Amino acid sequence: MTRRILVTGAAKGIGRAVMERALADGDEVVAVDRDPVPDPVGGSPRRLRTRRVDLARVAEITGLAEYLAEDVGGLDAVVHAAGVIVRRGSLDDVTEDDFDLQYAVNLRSAFFLVVRLRHLLGEGGSIVLFSSQGWWTGGLGGSAPYAATKAGVVALTRGLSRELAPRGIRVNAIAPGFVDTDMMHTHLDEADRDRLVAGVPLGRMADPAEIAASALSLTRPDASYLTGITLNASGGQLIY
Ligand SMILES: NC(=O)c1ccc[n+]([C@@H]2O[C@H](COP(=O)([O-])OP(=O)(O)OC[C@H]3O[C@@H](n4cnc5c(N)ncnc54)[C@H](O)[C@@H]3O)[C@@H](O)[C@H]2O)c1
Repeated sequence: MTRRILVTGAAKGIGRAVMERALADGDEVVAVDRDPVPDPVGGSPRRLRTRRVDLARVAEITGLAEYLAEDVGGLDAVVHAAGVIVRRGSLDDVTEDDFDLQYAVNLRSAFFLVVRLRHLLGEGGSIVLFSSQGWWTGGLGGSAPYAATKAGVVALTRGLSRELAPRGIRVNAIAPGFVDTDMMHTHLDEADRDRLVAGVPLGRMADPAEIAASALSLTRPDASYLTGITLNASGGQLIY
């Protein structure tokens, strides 16, 4: 059966890998991002719709829900990979705007996406939110506000999973460790990255496709008894 999946953050990185994998699996995909979503490898199939949405704005999330209701009709799964990190060298350099942006994109959007889209998901529907190992570590230098938003995602996942379980909708999160995307290269020099990756038992960063596969596995019908969990996808970096 073809499933209809909404993927956010699909312009690049992990969200793009989720879009590519879902298309390869035969799913129908609505791919959204603040930036234009480039065509997938091999061209754009009819099963793909793309849309530009700034998820930092709740009004745009409401507009997305209206579009999905009218043009798509319903959803089977949501993978909310859009996110943003702002690393600063000193605590004094963190601005109110830095804090608010990360809060809006990483945490507030997750809550309002679930709230606005839950009516489109029927029995068996599934939502995957994106946390980070930062939820546990508090961030590895210069990223405490980011880490706090990702801890918020874990709490949101637990709370919303209970709220939506009676409707047969599952809500889970995934907490990646170091993934080889632009986010791992922004404001982190090579020496810092090498030092961080040296602490990963698997000895490397994750490929975005590996995280995409794990995130999508949580949405599949055979994950039907999983809800409220945060999947630790850190290559053994943290085991808890
Ligand atoms: N890369 C890592 O090492 C890592 C580790 C842990 C968690 N994560 C999480 O995984 C998710 C994906 O990260 P990534 O590494 O692919 O990042 P990325 O920076 O490569 O891609 C993020 C995508 O989100 C989009 N986006 C940002 N703000 C948006 C907004 N306001 N509205 C709509 N789209 C917006 C960007 O345009 C971009 O396409 C994020 O939630 C991130 O916090 C990443």
